[in-house]
Formats: sequence, structure tokens, C-alpha cells
Amino acid sequence: MNFKEAYSKKIELIDNYITIHLDSKYGEVSPELAEAMKYSVLNGGKRLRSILCIEICQMLGGSVARALPFAAAIEMIHAYSLVHDDLPAMDNSDMRRGMPSCHKKYGEAMGILCGDALLNAAYELISESCEDASTVEALFCIASAAGAQGMIDGQVIDLNVAATNECDLKLLTKLIELKTMALIRASILTGACIANCDEKIMGDMNEFAYHLGLAFQVRDDFEDIDEDSAECGDSPNFVNFLGASKAKEMLETHASSSANILKKYENSEFLSQLHSFLFD
Ligand code: IPE
Ligand code: IPE
Ligand code: MG
Repeated sequence: MNFKEAYSKKIELIDNYITIHLDSKYGEVSPELAEAMKYSVLNGGKRLRSILCIEICQMLGGSVARALPFAAAIEMIHAYSLVHDDLPAMDNSDMRRGMPSCHKKYGEAMGILCGDALLNAAYELISESCEDASTVEALFCIASAAGAQGMIDGQVIDLNVAATNECDLKLLTKLIELKTMALIRASILTGACIANCDEKIMGDMNEFAYHLGLAFQVRDDFEDIDEDSAECGDSPNFVNFLGASKAKEMLETHASSSANILKKYENSEFLSQLHSFLFD
């Protein structure tokens, strides 16, 4: 099986799990809400966070079946964050993943409620799947990354920067560490927790998450410039802070550091291919 086929199969595994889970749990709720929830999670996307969670777990000798509900929950948290991020009070984006954003399709109130529902659904699923100390540790890791000490504060800083137009490299780095890197790191560490790995491996995974998260954000910044140069002119990012050449250097440095950590591990073939797909 080549990489593209293997990647599609992993996306299918996660999407099928989420579909069956949402249908069985929320089949009886108001049809518009159930539809908006499925629309917002299953409307494409790279599935980076959920795939990192299950693949890291598998690479470290853990069970994919045990990681899957956590991976699905992380994907629901990511989807909720995008639904709320697109709302008029935040980024006011009409499109998400090439389709109308949730509030554009279902209205603003439903956008708020659908995001709330996805966030709660994620923790409902995680709490049903907590069975020992390592899964409780994974729950804590996800909740702290997604909450006020993580992604949400990143969004608050993002709003402040947009309002004041004041940002330096230190603040931009903090913003990105919270807004984007926290949940990516939690996805990786959740996989590692479920695999019951030791502290040394956890240290490696932390470092892997740091380099991968930064490289991913700079890659996203370059993509934003390609897709929408007008919008990018307003929002601070590594490319317009450092200039294209230094930002490319930064991307290459962090991509290569994360790739080197993977090389130390057996059974990292798919993750290395995913890494090349993202960064080469
Ligand atoms: C988009 O994340 C928002 C960021 C934090 C950069 P992704 O690029 O992972 O979005 P999808 O899930 O593939 O659409
Ligand atoms: C997305 O951030 C929201 C979160 C990461 C919480 P951005 O606003 O930077 O990403 P896009 O451009 O909407 O995907
Ligand atoms: Mg946005």
C-alpha cells in the first residue's frame, strides 16, 4: 500500500468512528444540531491531530483501539475550535475547508451551540474511555491544552493582537504555542500516555511535538500567503515577521529536528511518510 492509500485509510478509520459515534449518541437530538455537528467535523481536513495520536500510540507499542476514542475526541475539539473561530465575533470567515462555515450554513446561534455540543461530546467520549491512570493523564493533557491555559488563551491573544496591531516575535511565538501547538502537543502526548511510555520517551515526544508544531505553523503561514495574500497582510505570522527566507530556514530547522526524533524509533514508517508529505 502506498502512502496516499494508507493515509486515506487512516482518515476513513477516524471518520467512520466519529460518524458511528455521533449517530449512536446524538441520533435523537434536534436534527439541525445533529446535522451541524456532523457537518463541522466530517467536512474534510487533514486529520493531523487524530492521526498523530493513534500513530504515536502504535509506534510506542500501544493499542490503536484504545487511542481511537481519544483521537476522535481531539478531532471534535479541533472542529469546535474552528467553528467558533469562524464566527462573526472572531475571524468572521464564511468558508472553512472549501465549504460554507458552520454559522454560514446553519446560522450564528447554531454555530455557537454546535461548537459547544462538539466540545462537550468530546469530553463525554473521553470520560467513557478512561479506564486507568494513563487514560486519566491523557484526559488531563487534552483538557489543559484546549482550555484557558492553552488554545483559548491563544485565541484571546490573537484577538488582542488584531485589535491593537501590536505584536513582536516573542508574543507571536507565545500566541502560536498556545493557539496551535498546544493541541498538537496534546495529541502526541495522549498517544504516548495511552502507550504507557516511560519518562525518557515522553521527553522525546515533547520535543517532537515542539518542533513539529512550530514547523506546522510556519508551513500554514506560507500556505495562507499563497491562498490569500490580502488577508495575510493584516495578520501577524512568521513569514511576515521574519521574511520568507528566514521563515523557510525556521521551517526546515524544526522539520528536520522533528524528523530526526522519529528516526530513533522503530515502526515510525507511516509517521515519517506523513512528515515528508507535510514538509518536503
Ligand atoms: C487549521 O488547522 C488551524 C490551525 C491551527 C493552523 P489544520 O490545518 O490542521 O486544519 P484541518 O483540520 O486540516 O482543516
Ligand atoms: C484557527 O486559527 C483556530 C484555532 C487554532 C483555535 P486561525 O484563525 O489561525 O486558522 P484559520 O486560518 O482560521 O484556519
Ligand atoms: Mg481563523
